[in-house]
Amino acid sequence: MQMQGDGLVLVAGQVARDLVLLTEGFPADGGSTRVGERRELLGGKGANQAVGWRQLGAEVALLAVIGTDREGDDLLGQLEADGIRPVVARRGTTGLLTDIVGPGGSRRLFERVPEESLLRPGDLAAVEHLLPEVDTLCLQLQQPLPVLFDLARRAHDLGIAVALDGGVSGPGADELLALASIVRADAVEAEQLTGFGIASPADARAAAKTLLDRGADVVALTVGGEGDLVVWPGGERFVAFGTDETVVDPTGAGDAFSVGLVAGLRAGLAPEDAASLAADAARSTVARPGGRPDLTALRERLG
Ligand SMILES: Nc1ncnc2c1ncn2[C@@H]1O[C@H](COP(=O)(O)OP(=O)(O)O)[C@@H](O)[C@H]1O
Ligand SMILES: [Mg+2]
Repeated sequence: MQMQGDGLVLVAGQVARDLVLLTEGFPADGGSTRVGERRELLGGKGANQAVGWRQLGAEVALLAVIGTDREGDDLLGQLEADGIRPVVARRGTTGLLTDIVGPGGSRRLFERVPEESLLRPGDLAAVEHLLPEVDTLCLQLQQPLPVLFDLARRAHDLGIAVALDGGVSGPGADELLALASIVRADAVEAEQLTGFGIASPADARAAAKTLLDRGADVVALTVGGEGDLVVWPGGERFVAFGTDETVVDPTGAGDAFSVGLVAGLRAGLAPEDAASLAADAARSTVARPGGRPDLTALRERLG
């Protein structure tokens, strides 16, 4: 695969306030429960991926929408403090992701994602001047497809490697997939992308093959409750999940997996080694409350 990396990584995706509440359990309807700890973090899939990339040593820019409220000012300051180059449109109200974490890795997510916090076609003009510096584009598929496609097409035309995380289907999905070198999806998203239900590594293999046939160089799909299968034209690697005792909160582990995989490939690791780096990034993220990763310790494995 043609990836090389000492340029800029561009992530496009959501920025939101993450409110993480650590509880001893979830109340029944009409009940209440004590919150042991409250954390407020820079969050959203775009920000979490950008933070992960930065922790792995990359120069990273983030294309996102941030509200015009005080929350937005605060998150913008946090992005800058994290060393991320923000390329942001400011409008509306900042999104709020409430992540209620119970014992044993159980969690409930309440997502307030205002329509105006999604990327719009006009937001792309702001990244135009950066594209010549970019070698890798990471797209979260939770954004509107026409915007993703437009950005991916511009990147692809410039020889930038395009990585996708998430699910998409319907008109335009095939065209977007044809531009991607790396595709990662959880089990639900994999079904959206391929129409295959993923109940086993064999199912994931069959689904991944269809994505390789559509042009991807490396595909990673989750088998629920078991692990992640990474497939490329010359081989595959299945990486099993960690043990249940290590799971505090699965939020953000998929994004960490994506960052580890793409960063490993970009650094020239063999796909099997990039897969194991990705799995370690996910394992470390499920051991932490909230979606923000800490991948700093994995940086040395990029050589
Ligand atoms: N017990 C576990 N140990 C390690 N990784 C896990 C475990 N459970 C889930 N994961 C990881 O979490 C990911 C979930 O992906 P996804 O649903 O996309 O999460 P998110 O979108 O919140 O980042 C899986 O791909 C897997 O890598
Ligand atoms: Mg995900």
